[in-house]
Amino acid sequence: MSSHGTPIPMTAHRAGPLTGTAEVPGDKSISHRALILGALAVGETTVTGLLEGQDVLDTAKAMQAFGAEIETRGDTWHIHGVGVGGFAEPETVIDCGNSGTGVRLIMGAMATTPIIATFTGDASLNRRPMARVTDPLALFGARAVGRSGGRLPMTIVGASEPVPVRYATPVPSAQVKSAVLLAGLGAPGETVVIEREATRDHSERMLAGFGAQVVTEDTREGRVITLTGQPELRPQSIAVPRDPSSAAFPVCAALIVEGSDVLVPNIGLNPTRAGLFTTLREMGADLTYENEREEGGEPVADLRARFSPDLRGIEVPPERAASMIDEYPVLSAVAACADGRTLMTGVKELRVKESDRIDAMAQGLRAAGVEVQEGEDWWAVTGRGQGGVPGGVTVESRLDHRIAMSFLVLGMAAQRGMSVDDGGPIATSFPIFEPLMAALGAQIQRNEG
Ligand code: S3P
Repeated sequence: MSSHGTPIPMTAHRAGPLTGTAEVPGDKSISHRALILGALAVGETTVTGLLEGQDVLDTAKAMQAFGAEIETRGDTWHIHGVGVGGFAEPETVIDCGNSGTGVRLIMGAMATTPIIATFTGDASLNRRPMARVTDPLALFGARAVGRSGGRLPMTIVGASEPVPVRYATPVPSAQVKSAVLLAGLGAPGETVVIEREATRDHSERMLAGFGAQVVTEDTREGRVITLTGQPELRPQSIAVPRDPSSAAFPVCAALIVEGSDVLVPNIGLNPTRAGLFTTLREMGADLTYENEREEGGEPVADLRARFSPDLRGIEVPPERAASMIDEYPVLSAVAACADGRTLMTGVKELRVKESDRIDAMAQGLRAAGVEVQEGEDWWAVTGRGQGGVPGGVTVESRLDHRIAMSFLVLGMAAQRGMSVDDGGPIATSFPIFEPLMAALGAQIQRNEG
């Protein structure tokens, strides 16, 4: 089932060349943060380029439930924030839908305010681990009561006298880091997060933009981020760059569909997010960055991807995992069309995403005629070479947008196409995926009725 409706079965047929310009939507991670920090600032923040996908819309609704006023005028979102510590107690349960980022960041943002809130989500989100966030929030003085195994639905009782925290994240997770930093806003003194591997740093950048004091140091222990609590956040005017994780789909499709040449403009290329593009180039992809520049504190470029007949399997270094964690599913579709074996290690976090992404891709790829080996923390795809994937099967998308889109991309190059049982979840992050891909020349069909 889709997160917000009935299943939408879809098929991608093997297509002719993909050509043209792909204007992908705004960055999901930055969109969530713009709404949450806008709600915590004093006064009106404006946001353009916000991703209007279901995940982000759920976060906007949640911010309204905590007291922020939010309205849209044309393409601009206006957020009237209530200030750090100013969140009201929501009158209803907060439903974060499919979004781990939404729920974990919002839990952090309310945990050091003396209010109570109950969170829930769809079947995918309600299976995902929340202790990774509630453990550090308890150190601030917040309490959490949820289902067994630390699952949603869950109630958080915000700390009435929060204390600052020094916390080394046990898993490489920007959501955990961000939850701690957002909680740190409401605590007096310095909150410190230490991460062994650097994860996406949008929270740090945006907090600094809103006027918080955030200092990042790279040390032998790892990356140390120090936030000074109880700032007054100044409202901002934010232009959200386009999402590299969404750009990944037209880019990867262009590389494996014969004759393709696709331009994907204005893509955020924050180094903590751009690992996929480095990996693709190492595999022999014809992928170039044009017009490199900086916008709103984030590096940006136009990506040009052309059909690459000589892709070869590589070993993806484990230290790159955090910078491409959401892109392994679509990378595995490209790897299936390459010559040789692609080995991906240090990736056990993939098992606790919207689905167990190693299992979901491994099962679907095998059904499509591709050899996959896997362990808890690694997997390997043996490519069948250009045009060599048989396809022609229906696979489960498991309430996971990136699994659905990855198999549809594979279907564009597979001999007999590929079908997914439900493309509905695509709307969580990339609501214009179907028309955008169709405009490039892809043939994606809904198999309804
Ligand atoms: C995100 C962090 C990552 C990523 C997710 C977005 C964020 O999750 O997979 O899609 O915006 O902070 P983890 O923090 O679980 O690695």
